[in-house]
Amino acid sequence: METKIYHITDPASSTGKAALVEAGVYIRAGELVAFPTETVYGLGADALNAAAVGKIFAAKGRPADNPLIAHICSMEMGEQLAKFTPMAQKLAEHFWPGPLTMVMPRHPLVPNVVTAGLETVAVRWPSNPIAAALIAESATPIAAPSANTSGRPSPTTATHVAEDMQGKIPLILDGGAVTIGLESTVVDVRGQYPLLLRPGKITAEELAELCGDCLFPKAGDAQRPASPGMKYRHYAPRGQVYLAQDADEAMLIAARLADVPLFLVSQETATQLLAQKIAPSRIKALFADGNFNQYAQSIFAALRDADSADEQNIVVETVPEQGLGLAIMNRLKKAAAK
Ligand code: TXA
Ligand code: MG
Repeated sequence: METKIYHITDPASSTGKAALVEAGVYIRAGELVAFPTETVYGLGADALNAAAVGKIFAAKGRPADNPLIAHICSMEMGEQLAKFTPMAQKLAEHFWPGPLTMVMPRHPLVPNVVTAGLETVAVRWPSNPIAAALIAESATPIAAPSANTSGRPSPTTATHVAEDMQGKIPLILDGGAVTIGLESTVVDVRGQYPLLLRPGKITAEELAELCGDCLFPKAGDAQRPASPGMKYRHYAPRGQVYLAQDADEAMLIAARLADVPLFLVSQETATQLLAQKIAPSRIKALFADGNFNQYAQSIFAALRDADSADEQNIVVETVPEQGLGLAIMNRLKKAAAK
């Protein structure tokens, strides 16, 4: 299959509109369209068409027991899919459109293939204008996981999507690099307090501030069907990832390896590694110390670049698990697990 890539600079321009109309036709016909969101690129299908959603699992090589997020562009659309509790209403008012996914009791309209047979459905209203326009144009909720081959780092540019999906899907909408770079925060909102299933840009601290508290799944819960995706290895490049807290620890790890690894670190750590005679070509400074937004934006692309360069060993800097740092560390730990 030939994969078309349409660049959209302005979804309201005539070329932007034409691309979105065509993308909507594909979605309505049960085909797959990759599109940008504010978090990562998504691989979309009509969420109400079971056969179309089945194609997502085939294109990604995704296990069938890992449910998908249904993307909406209005509360009416959301209410067709899920039962909103008062807490869900409140979170929606506060964080939608935006990088928050809520797990709620599902309505019968949602096909089993979307929810992997669960009694719940995950719903998100993305803020990216191309994503919102695509859903509106398709006039149906769009089921979409990240548009990567299962297990690989999520795509933050259309080029990343093409690396994994070229020849497998008819259309990629290219809206440039995403702004956040990590997947949405996923919370189960059925209880008294939000239960954080996947950390993201909307932080546990923000959820607790609004809802009084934020709960975390207990150790061992990852195998429970409550959040199937958590048990899978994710975000991993082909090389081995090692986590280091600072330049000293990075040097200790490097000393055990036969070849000089690639270092993905902060600017401050990069300066210290250079002082220890590490070649500049082996170091990539991804963020200014403490700038978690910049780190989140650049980490998946850096891991993919490491793959393209066939890097065998990659030393990656850790950050404190606070705020967005919790989401960054969640992805880094999965990338490092083998
Ligand atoms: O930012 C994002 O969320 C991106 C963009 C495209 O919106 N999408 C994304 O989808 O990251 P995906 O499929 O890669 O991750 C969805 C996560 C998985 O861990 C899945 O197990 C979980 O959400 N999930 C989906 N439905 C669920 C449900 N009913 N109950 C619990 N967890 C669910
Ligand atoms: Mg994913």
